[in-house]
Amino acid sequence: MAFEFLGRRSHHCGALGAQNNNEEVILMGWVASQRDHGGVVFIDLRDRWGITQIVFNPEVNSSLTECAKSLKMESVIGIKGQVIKRPESMINLKIATGEIEVLVHEMEVYSEAKPLPFPIKETCDALDETRLKFRYLDLRRPSMQRNMLLRHRAAQIARQYFDESGFIEIETPVLMKSTPEGARDYLVPSRIYKGRFYALPQSPQTYKQLLMVSGFDRYFQIVKCFRDEDLRADRQPEFTQIDVEMSFINEDTIMTIMEGLVAKLFKETKDMEFSVPFPRLSYAEAMANYGVDRPDLRFEMKISDVGHLVANTEFRVFNDVLASRGAIRGLCLKGAGRLSRKQMDELTDYVRTFGANGLVVIQNTEEGVVSPISKFVNEETFCSLLAHFDAEIGDVLLIIAASESVVCAGLGNLRNKLAKDYQLIPEKSFAPVWVTDFPLLEWDAQDGRFVAMHHPFTSPKPEDLHLLDSDPGKVRARAYDLVLNGSEIAGGSIRIHQRKVQQRMFEVLGIQEETARRKFGYLLDAFEYGPPPHGGIAFGFDRLIMILSEESSIREVIAFPKTTSALSLMDGCPSEVDSAQLEELGLQIIDDES
Ligand code: AMO
Repeated sequence: MAFEFLGRRSHHCGALGAQNNNEEVILMGWVASQRDHGGVVFIDLRDRWGITQIVFNPEVNSSLTECAKSLKMESVIGIKGQVIKRPESMINLKIATGEIEVLVHEMEVYSEAKPLPFPIKETCDALDETRLKFRYLDLRRPSMQRNMLLRHRAAQIARQYFDESGFIEIETPVLMKSTPEGARDYLVPSRIYKGRFYALPQSPQTYKQLLMVSGFDRYFQIVKCFRDEDLRADRQPEFTQIDVEMSFINEDTIMTIMEGLVAKLFKETKDMEFSVPFPRLSYAEAMANYGVDRPDLRFEMKISDVGHLVANTEFRVFNDVLASRGAIRGLCLKGAGRLSRKQMDELTDYVRTFGANGLVVIQNTEEGVVSPISKFVNEETFCSLLAHFDAEIGDVLLIIAASESVVCAGLGNLRNKLAKDYQLIPEKSFAPVWVTDFPLLEWDAQDGRFVAMHHPFTSPKPEDLHLLDSDPGKVRARAYDLVLNGSEIAGGSIRIHQRKVQQRMFEVLGIQEETARRKFGYLLDAFEYGPPPHGGIAFGFDRLIMILSEESSIREVIAFPKTTSALSLMDGCPSEVDSAQLEELGLQIIDDES
């Protein structure tokens, strides 16, 4: 059957209004709903632009109306009909085309749909697994269509912003040599060179630095990156970065340009003004006050050191921790009222998952202080603790005494949990903050050596260089992260461009000259030919869109994401391959048991 209407669509389904009254139109789309009102059939016809109500009247065409009645939901049709202005009482203000309907004269049925695994609605009650298996249907839902559209819009805005700011987009290889970002690589076996592998880029880090050596000052790229790491709501095995590198700059220039991008994205997609510059916190301040290096500044509840206030108690835990130079810090949960035994146990169990042995709860009630440690702590100490946090009646102090890292992890996570449980986060609030001055190195207890906190090309702060020999853990990096609502949305650094410093860095990291040459020889070679001072940053584009769209998982803003166990439920990858393919690659699968 020849379909006459194809190629002749006059409008999309979100376009018609009272101004089109009486016009003859051709529309196409999906049957989104169907109602039979005493023989007259109403169908909501949906395409990606909207919904138009179309009407089949048996008095106008009875066989066509019968046909409309038998249409299955989500079948695809094209219709020709006449726009009719609805009477005042029938206007539907909820949809853009609510002032009109289209009386159908002719119809073409392009395809029929089986019963659906879940209805195509704004919200979906189906299990995540079902949504991912039928992702092509999930993507039909209005909320997913909006997310994809927002993602597209944001990418266009970013491209335009960088183009106007003098950046050029250059594509870098997807089959490359392993990158030093610290996660596990996805490897691709070479057919021609058996036993050799390409790695998928964890980021285009080395390439963008090489592009600076080539003189392409101001590079950017919207680029796929691949990391085989433990996944969670804000991590996918393949994700997208807005990757940026610039020459002859410092931290401030980069931050200012990135703030401009974020402000423009919020303005143009949400009509929200962001005041710039964004606040900055050093890593040390972030850890001390918020317990994490990506603080959520949408709410207060700062963590505070109380070690000096509890130096003279009978409480052994406090005394032991002070003696071993650990930390005693706490936070004040405002207006919590009286916590039940069960609530306290739950909070204690929660901080235990971060290594804390316990959680000291001090409740400021009408009847005075209630706390399991009141036997060991005098009235005066409790008063000074309450005063320290400006605690009022109904407030609860929560204190952890342990090693500094356990205290930070316990209280930092507790702070975020309490904010959620007690709804302390105002809706539609966005709090950006730069975290700067990260430590250059991290001690890897397992390997018994220092590893780069960011990557080995991150520049140390010049004023800390002398510590590289005496106290490497104290050296700060010229690295910065942009954090938005407690999520790290971008990270970058000023790079090392001096060969001597790079060599020194490799030594500290315990990377032998030979290993460095094997891994990054090409970059070190390039740096022999006039590398400009340079630095850059990369945005996690998916995370940025997740926040812009106010979703809580990056899966909601990626068309075809993987599960948290790195599966694609729709196409079933990763999947086994033919033995012939393996043979060609010179590979053999060894099963777990053998
Ligand atoms: P970094 O490793 O910090 O830096 O990555 C930059 C940003 O990418 C996002 N991101 C992720 N998003 C989703 N899933 C993941 N698995 C994932 N991993 C990271 C985060 C992060 O802030 N080459 C450096 C950048 C540079 O130094 O210029 C880099 O990749 O939002």
